[in-house]
Amino acid sequence: MVASLAVWIGSALLILAVLTQRWWDPWLTKSGIDWRAVPWRWYLLGFPATAIRMRWRWKQVCLINDLSISRKPTRAMVGDLAVRGTALRAIAPTLGLPRVTRTGLVVRVRLNPGQTPRPFLNATGALEHAWQVHRVRISSPRRGELVVTVTARDSLSRDDAKTDHQPERLLAARVGRIEDGGAWVLDLRQIPHWLLVGATQSGKSTLLAAWVVRLAPQSVALVGIDCKGGLELGLVESRLSALACNRPEAIELLHALVREMEGRMAACRAARVRSIWQLPDSGRPMPIVVLVDELAELYLSDGSRESRDEVAQCSTLLLRVAQLGAALGLHLVVAGQRVGAELGPGVTALRAQLGGRIAHRVNDQATAEMALGDLSPDAIAVAQTIEPDEKGVAVTTVGGRWMRARSDLTTTDQARAIADEHAHLTPYFPALAHSMTKGGRTE
Ligand SMILES: Nc1ncnc2c1ncn2[C@@H]1O[C@H](COP(=O)(O)OP(=O)(O)OP(=O)(O)O)[C@@H](O)[C@H]1O
Ligand SMILES: [Mg+2]
Repeated sequence: MVASLAVWIGSALLILAVLTQRWWDPWLTKSGIDWRAVPWRWYLLGFPATAIRMRWRWKQVCLINDLSISRKPTRAMVGDLAVRGTALRAIAPTLGLPRVTRTGLVVRVRLNPGQTPRPFLNATGALEHAWQVHRVRISSPRRGELVVTVTARDSLSRDDAKTDHQPERLLAARVGRIEDGGAWVLDLRQIPHWLLVGATQSGKSTLLAAWVVRLAPQSVALVGIDCKGGLELGLVESRLSALACNRPEAIELLHALVREMEGRMAACRAARVRSIWQLPDSGRPMPIVVLVDELAELYLSDGSRESRDEVAQCSTLLLRVAQLGAALGLHLVVAGQRVGAELGPGVTALRAQLGGRIAHRVNDQATAEMALGDLSPDAIAVAQTIEPDEKGVAVTTVGGRWMRARSDLTTTDQARAIADEHAHLTPYFPALAHSMTKGGRTE
């Protein structure tokens, strides 16, 4: 009786909503609510089905994966033998009521006395399988309690899912989307320097292009070092204040940047402030973002004295920019296939200064560890599971946690067109431009 009444009322409301759509649709649009973007299918069908499935299978999955406890010991003596068995009355931890999110759900679990989060962390694969969901992530904010975050399906697998919300903040760039459906925003004011690693063809240069495209309309200077002969960053050269295409040019450019940094340091000291952000708007120098594509090219030496000298200079100069740049508005974004100690001791010191980390698909565990080692073992494992056809997918830090994310595909034509469109905003730094002619490249 109650059920059929609910169906009648629901149907009547649905018909009313369809009939009156032309009134409420413009009103919602004006209020900034895009109801077409709401995942109705998930809210109305997917979520209830998943919540029921979770509850239905909870006890069983806990029993199979040793996540339950038993009141009685699971070992007993039979004659002279100690036998181990499965408790007939196992007690699973208490699964709370799930809370729906746009891309999945969140549920709390109260552990039984004596239980620790470790077995649950190891059982995420089993939970994903039992609940038929894309990913289960477990954290333990309080002792005895777990927060289980479920992502229903892989929102990164769709190529079309672009949301075009670019934040207003200076130096913040929305470069793609994260696993939970939100925007992937890289904010250089929050984390001043970044390291991008990934195997060849994993999407590093495309992410750099997406970053440049988002920074292009802003009041920032962009500078490139691309020792692959400028093949990658050459696309956006019209929006770059300087582009170094080989190591001698890179050294001149880095010298010029260090001189610029020293000038800014003097200005801050004279004004008795600790960073350019404390200077008045009128006297504040423009932030400079230095993009380095393929770091290894700066560090590889053929053994000759000349190349060893060049490597040493690059290493020292980059490290200085990384150590002192953040307060002076100089930001480093460094991409490379490998950034390990095999490139020399300078690389390890530089890596330590690059607080933001992004790992695309990697071929070996060592590279993932280099990029994500200080984050969590889970993040390293996930970076290694990115498939070759998941171009642009990466593991990164978002608000202190790790997440999977995917950059927006920025084609070469788009990158070139947007750089040209904003070419008039390219600030002219005479010292940087001059360094290019000294480095051997004349226009
Ligand atoms: N987010 C993305 N979505 C779809 N395709 C992508 C994405 N990112 C990169 N790709 C595709 O992957 C290919 C390789 O990308 P990219 O050149 O950026 O890789 P890379 O890591 O810079 O490689 P290399 O180390 O060889 O320079 C490109 O053809 C590009 O179209
Ligand atoms: Mg590349």
